[in-house]
Amino acid sequence: MSYQSRLPKSPLAALAVVALAAGTTTALSGAVPAAAFPGIHHPHAHPTITSQPWGDFEGQTVDLYTLTSGAGMKVTITNFGATVQSLWVPDRRGRSVDVALGFPTLSDYVNDFLQQHTGVAWPLSGGSGDTYFGATIGRYANRIADHSFTMVCSNCSNNGVTYTLPANNGTNTLHGGDLGWNTKVWSASTSQGPGYVALALSLTSPDGDEGFPASVTATVTYTVTTDNELRIRYDITNNEPVGGKATVVNPTNHLYFNLAGESSGPVFDQLLAINADRYSPIDTNFIPTAPYQLSVAGTPFDFRHPKPIGRDITNVSSPDGTSGPFPQLVIAHGYDHNWVLNGSGYRLAAVAQDRGTGITLWTYTDQPGVQFYSGNFLVGDLTGTGGHTYRQTSGFTLETQHFPDSPHHIGEPGWPSVVLNGGQTLSSMTTYRFTTGGTITHFGF
Ligand code: GLA
Repeated sequence: MSYQSRLPKSPLAALAVVALAAGTTTALSGAVPAAAFPGIHHPHAHPTITSQPWGDFEGQTVDLYTLTSGAGMKVTITNFGATVQSLWVPDRRGRSVDVALGFPTLSDYVNDFLQQHTGVAWPLSGGSGDTYFGATIGRYANRIADHSFTMVCSNCSNNGVTYTLPANNGTNTLHGGDLGWNTKVWSASTSQGPGYVALALSLTSPDGDEGFPASVTATVTYTVTTDNELRIRYDITNNEPVGGKATVVNPTNHLYFNLAGESSGPVFDQLLAINADRYSPIDTNFIPTAPYQLSVAGTPFDFRHPKPIGRDITNVSSPDGTSGPFPQLVIAHGYDHNWVLNGSGYRLAAVAQDRGTGITLWTYTDQPGVQFYSGNFLVGDLTGTGGHTYRQTSGFTLETQHFPDSPHHIGEPGWPSVVLNGGQTLSSMTTYRFTTGGTITHFGF
């Protein structure tokens, strides 16, 4: 019924976790053998990690960290919101391309991420709203209907207690509330070892934070490897004693990708495949609705084989022969849904590719779902890191997570639990790995 201390189970994943666990310590000399990263393409590469001051937020110093793989990948991450600001990878000709949507300055992030709290729309009302570009989302990613839930737990002190949360998305609670983890300054520590550099970012979210029960401590560890991977590990501990208050947690990262470059325009032609036979249909409040899981077969939601993201998004003729706008795409103005990933444990969740740059993104996760969002709320009012504006489909997200609105389905079959009991730790990992190569036409998940 509740989270166990979950670690990936496959041999590859187990090795990865050993390496990452070591990566969060400081004394690393010789502690992590290179063999802990199977498939290293660049065994002689030298990853680096540096930092620079990036400004202040509410009297706290904010830094920008730069992690390089030594094999052409460079990631900048700020401890404001534990946010990935840019993600540079080589294309097939060796040119460096920033494949993550982001902002050039800290004040852009503060204006964008804080607007729900301050009530000051940025840059104008009726604009894109809070984008969550590259941010860490917590304590609960995605939507909780009616901005409340009733805890259902055993060996806990708050079974049956109803909690009221902020309504920051119509009547829903979205991405942890008005002041989610993307609005906090995280404390940082860096480490490195053979084949990797790591940045561990931590915060404590107190009991009652944004209405959620129980104090939790979260650590997000970003690791860049010589294999041009960005690994994101979450360790979240419920600080209550065993038998104390349980809570719900669902962390994710909100990177928007554009594999032709963040300034390059629509991602319609980029290929995407998702390892999922089913998706979660939503009602007009974007909340999953019965029967909760539908087959993707014969619908625009079928990404079981690589296809251009835009192929069916505007097409009124569905692959099953019916015609007319597909209702689920009408509700969301595109894709903004949970795909129910096949299998369990740490596994390949999705592959995406731009055929021009050749940049290919491999997403691995131990999570049960992925929210594929086609940037539908971007309306052309935001200027990104490269000095261009972002519009609908300028980027797409692959937010690995539990199913939306899970707190209203605790204990129900088909709904993996998001309950974290007192004294328990959730450990979870998602990897974004970049390669270049031939066109993906098919692959086995
Ligand atoms: C998530 C949601 C979207 C939207 C974006 C941020 O992806 O599912 O509906 O709120 O965050 O704009």
